[in-house]
Amino acid sequence: MTTLLRDITSLRTWREYEGQRGKRIALVPTMGCLHAGHFHLVELAKKAADCVIVSIFLNPLQFGSDEDYQSYPCSFDQDIEQLKQRQVAAVFAPESEILYPNPMETCTHVRGNDLAQSLEGESRPGHFTGVLTIVAKLLNLVQAQVAVFGEKDYQQLQLIRCMVKDLNFPVNIVAGSTVRDSDGLALSSRNRYLDTAQRQRALALPKTLRNLTDDIRERQASQELNPDVLEWQAKKQLEKTGLQVDYVAIRAADNLAAFNGVIHLPLRILAAVYVDQLRLIDNIALKLDA
Ligand code: PAF
Repeated sequence: MTTLLRDITSLRTWREYEGQRGKRIALVPTMGCLHAGHFHLVELAKKAADCVIVSIFLNPLQFGSDEDYQSYPCSFDQDIEQLKQRQVAAVFAPESEILYPNPMETCTHVRGNDLAQSLEGESRPGHFTGVLTIVAKLLNLVQAQVAVFGEKDYQQLQLIRCMVKDLNFPVNIVAGSTVRDSDGLALSSRNRYLDTAQRQRALALPKTLRNLTDDIRERQASQELNPDVLEWQAKKQLEKTGLQVDYVAIRAADNLAAFNGVIHLPLRILAAVYVDQLRLIDNIALKLDA
């Protein structure tokens, strides 16, 4: 049975009951419109704890005023049905006023460290403050021993790890690898906005990331690793297919520090592009031989 929890009191009652039964809890925070990427996180959560709770909350605080909060896709009934089929113990799905009873702009925020200002943070000011604030609230409310996040939002994942460490949250963060469609496109709730021609163009994103990892591996032996040149070349490759590029960044995987050509092990390559109006992000791991 999957218990649907709509407010904080019922969440706390559920949590206390499961705690008294000695259950270890894993939380999977989502914004709904669930797909195979989310279900992969649910499976990891099941392995990591006795009991899984999924939150479905479209967090207004992490959307800019020019972004798609109002039109973000929603498939609530289908989400609940799919979570029931996966024997999820509970779903926490509050209305916005439950989590933000006072104006959300003026309530206490978690701002994140310097990493929150670069890459996604530079293009989407305030985005990570919104993400970290809601994740901190959910972690506090659910008091889970484990929380699972996807590597698709790699910068978000690293910022959450930093927050948990810096603010001493007693939770173990588990990362789930990105799930891709058979054509290579990383699953995202926003992919449903793409028409067939746009989707075809979007495939340049995972392809360019793969090519870049091959390129870096080949050049490693000859020590010709100029990250600026490599990022610029990847950007040109993406633009050729009609995508507008926000960034391509080769970074150290752990703290996302800029790669200076001296071999860091391991690396992460991150990119954000626009397919017409739609922003897509993706990233890929790169482990070089020492
Ligand atoms: O990755 C997401 O879906 C969201 O950013 C999260 C972590 C659920 C916070 O709203």
